[in-house]
Amino acid sequence: MRVPGAVVTLDYTDLSRLDLIVLGLLPDEALPPADTYVDEEGTPVAIRDTDGRIVSKRPMPWERPQDVRAGGARPVVIPPPEQMPSGELPLDAVVLMPVGGARLDDARRPRWVQSWTDAANKSGAVVVRVPMDAREAATRASELAAAYTGGTIVEVPTVAQPVGAGRVVFFTGLSGSGKSTVARAVVERLASSRSITLLDGDVVRTHLSKGLGFSAADRDINIRRIGWVAAEVAKHGGLAVCAPIAPYDATRKWVRETVEASGGPGSFVLVWISTPLEVCEQRDVKGLYAKARRGEIKGFTGIDDPYEAPQDAELVIDTSQVSLDDAVDQVLARLQG
Ligand code: ADX
Repeated sequence: MRVPGAVVTLDYTDLSRLDLIVLGLLPDEALPPADTYVDEEGTPVAIRDTDGRIVSKRPMPWERPQDVRAGGARPVVIPPPEQMPSGELPLDAVVLMPVGGARLDDARRPRWVQSWTDAANKSGAVVVRVPMDAREAATRASELAAAYTGGTIVEVPTVAQPVGAGRVVFFTGLSGSGKSTVARAVVERLASSRSITLLDGDVVRTHLSKGLGFSAADRDINIRRIGWVAAEVAKHGGLAVCAPIAPYDATRKWVRETVEASGGPGSFVLVWISTPLEVCEQRDVKGLYAKARRGEIKGFTGIDDPYEAPQDAELVIDTSQVSLDDAVDQVLARLQG
């Protein structure tokens, strides 16, 4: 439906939806009612005409299904998500390559697309790029085959795409819980076998996040910065160890998603250092709990600012119960697993 004056911003999944509408594979209603659609940079990408039909302003790098179909009924291969080909493709096959719905910084997708393109080139098959997410393509396989070639779907032997070596170990917990101590010990233990990027809360706040305070908004920005850098490290096969308080569940989840988008599933390991508040307060290494109790520091985590205990931690370690060596062993075991 056209809503005069209404502007809707489309993210990367919506944009591939737009392409599918233009290709006739989704109805115009697949996008919300509006007058104008813009991408995340504010560039207009489509409008609705007076009949409510969507008119794309984007150049279409995709072949139209009817044009492909004009080549006759050929077998169709639809690459399954996270699987790479391990055998030959039929010589006359059309590989419907789902290349939509990916974040720009997803490092795994280009590798996956390349593996299928190489296999197709080797076997003499043809690759047709489809602006659709791999999972959606898998569920709509027969519909796609009918739209593009009218041929049958051929299963090709595959192997799982390797996760890659990029990893992020993300410690979270109260001030004084022992995050930095365990993180540093993990780095020391691994230092001889690989290079590691350590993003410690206190250290990050002296440069990357210098000037930020401890309001909810500032903590959120701080953690997102740490997460973004860690994801970049993971994307290039590195190991990042992070140790901020990171008190908010939603922000930690954002970091997990961001890391997994570039490092793949399993690349993010959340370790909750669950040492109880009483112990942290008793240790009070920096004297900050005492100050917070006296009201000299406002909004101190655990005293008058919330710490949301994670429900999704891969590992939970209470440093008042577990020795430093054992804590490091547990983290390394989880990393190797
Ligand atoms: S986070 O909330 O944004 O993740 P971060 O790990 O960077 O916090 O910084 C925490 C450190 O800042 C603490 O270890 C402590 O030394 C210091 N700090 C100063 N003020 C506060 C406060 N209001 N709450 C928690 N930590 C504080």
